[in-house]
Amino acid sequence: MCGIVGYLGKREAYPIIIKGLQRLEYRGYDSTGVALLNGELSVYKKKGKVSELRETLAEDSLTSNIGIGHTRWATHGEPNDINAHPHLSQSGKLAMIHNGIIENYDSIKTDLLKKGYSFTSETDSEVFINFIEDIYLNNDVELSEAVRLALNKVVGAYAIAIISKDDPELLIAARKGSPLVVGLGKDEFFLASDATPIIEYTNEVVYLEDQEIAIIKNRNLTIKSIEDVELTPYVQTVDMELEAIEKGGYEHFMLKEIFEQPKSIGDCLRGRLRANDGQLVLGGIHDYVNKIMNADRILIVACGTSWHAGLVAEYIFEEFCRIPVEVEYASEFRYRNPVVGEKDVLIAISQSGETADTLAAIDLAKSKGATILGVCNVVGSSIPRMTHAGSYTHAGPEIGVASTKAFTAQISVLTMMALMIAERKGTISESLLRNLLVELEAVPQKVAKALDLNPQIEYISELFKDASNFLYLGRGYNFPVALEGALKLKEISYIHAEGYPAAEMKHGPIALIDENMPVVFIATRDSSYEKIVSNIQEVKARKGRVIAIVSEGDTEVAKMAEFTIEVPQAHEALMPLISVVPLQLLSYHIAVMRGCNVDQPRNLAKSVTVE
Ligand code: G6P
Repeated sequence: MCGIVGYLGKREAYPIIIKGLQRLEYRGYDSTGVALLNGELSVYKKKGKVSELRETLAEDSLTSNIGIGHTRWATHGEPNDINAHPHLSQSGKLAMIHNGIIENYDSIKTDLLKKGYSFTSETDSEVFINFIEDIYLNNDVELSEAVRLALNKVVGAYAIAIISKDDPELLIAARKGSPLVVGLGKDEFFLASDATPIIEYTNEVVYLEDQEIAIIKNRNLTIKSIEDVELTPYVQTVDMELEAIEKGGYEHFMLKEIFEQPKSIGDCLRGRLRANDGQLVLGGIHDYVNKIMNADRILIVACGTSWHAGLVAEYIFEEFCRIPVEVEYASEFRYRNPVVGEKDVLIAISQSGETADTLAAIDLAKSKGATILGVCNVVGSSIPRMTHAGSYTHAGPEIGVASTKAFTAQISVLTMMALMIAERKGTISESLLRNLLVELEAVPQKVAKALDLNPQIEYISELFKDASNFLYLGRGYNFPVALEGALKLKEISYIHAEGYPAAEMKHGPIALIDENMPVVFIATRDSSYEKIVSNIQEVKARKGRVIAIVSEGDTEVAKMAEFTIEVPQAHEALMPLISVVPLQLLSYHIAVMRGCNVDQPRNLAKSVTVE
């Protein structure tokens, strides 16, 4: 994963780079490093977060108009000072930052060792820069050409940036598999893994495509393919406000993003849904509606929280569109030999639009002739660029590593997609459709009401913060919510938690229940309500401690549960959008009370660009 930043221009590079790295920390935070060129090529790097490096450096002394920086999520080699990027070539003339994995680094390393190279770190990236240097020194070519030749030989994924002691007016970057954006200012250039480090300086950007090299030399940008074909840069304007990537008074990004949900769901529905006139249009899939409604099957691929959104979508598509749906972990799908045909439609769900396994699953399904749709949040990211069609979730930047507002926006888009198809296919009655559109439009207000429960949830969190295990149980539409609630808790508080379909509890997890086991039921009023009430009784009978998310006005569950959290009621298909909110808050408060780093939980990264 890792985040990378680069700068070349008239300003001081260090403040731009270090601030940019802080914005990219969601991509990894094992170690940080910066290389600056000012006559000498100086590298400052350290295990730990960006702020830790920043504290050790005196900003005033770091004068340079060109530099590169990196925040790491370790793949090769443990996170320590030596394995931190940037890496220098053996001559000390080249510095490189790298996001990705070079799969054939071992054989390249063996060749370089034979040639007398030695390595200080355990990283594939140090091998990579020495490989470039070897080509550069042994052939009469420019550095950019040496980079191009090297890229033709490496196997794997990369977003790289390189600077050279010999030329303070040269910054080279390239990508394959890992994202890279070039920002274009007046006589200045920025590089970053996404646009967030760039937007306060310029909103003109070029998203590099796979196997493209950007050469910034003498204040000019040239883009070429690794086959050496010069390309015309496609300059785009980024539409992102600075406030969207700042905490805005909240203690953590995660809390801000949880509280943003009435707005983010509203933004997602805006311009697409007008319940009064029965209007529902997702422009991005408009031309593919026939294809989807006549699909043999819908395959949904995703990872993590996005996979949970896919499970909710499965229920919705099957119920309203009567199309068979399969939901797959992208990482499993890509490595088996799945049966995929030309009449299949694959929906890839991804907040970042960069998840390596999801990208590979798309490639596989595309090669078998399936139609590919994307449901992504980050505009211009790799997945939307690979799909035939799709819809953005428009939730705004999500920075907390644990996904919250992206999940509800994904479900909102997928619901609209399903209802649009159902209407065209005639598998939903007019009155039900009308009712669902009205209900969907009311979801943002209901989510806002669910957020009013925050003080009650904080109180409950205090009582359960020391538990070592949690069980989350739900049925029907609320089963994926149980999975998501458990994932949220695991991710940020490091408490072991399992989500289960409530009825499956009898086949295993019931053995875990005793007076110390908190069991969170998602038991809102729906078609399986009576059944889940029985499951609550089963847990009660074994002295489990029941916390139940129920519909407003519920009295039945209140008789059995130790705590009930009452959320506004909606049609059952829309309840995940509401019932997940208290679970997000519960995990948030428990993690804060346990002293965990909520926005940057250990070992995780927001954008998983390695398989
Ligand atoms: C990581 C993140 C999760 C996210 C998953 C899928 O594991 O920590 O929050 O759900 O990746 O990411 P995507 O960007 O494809 O939705």
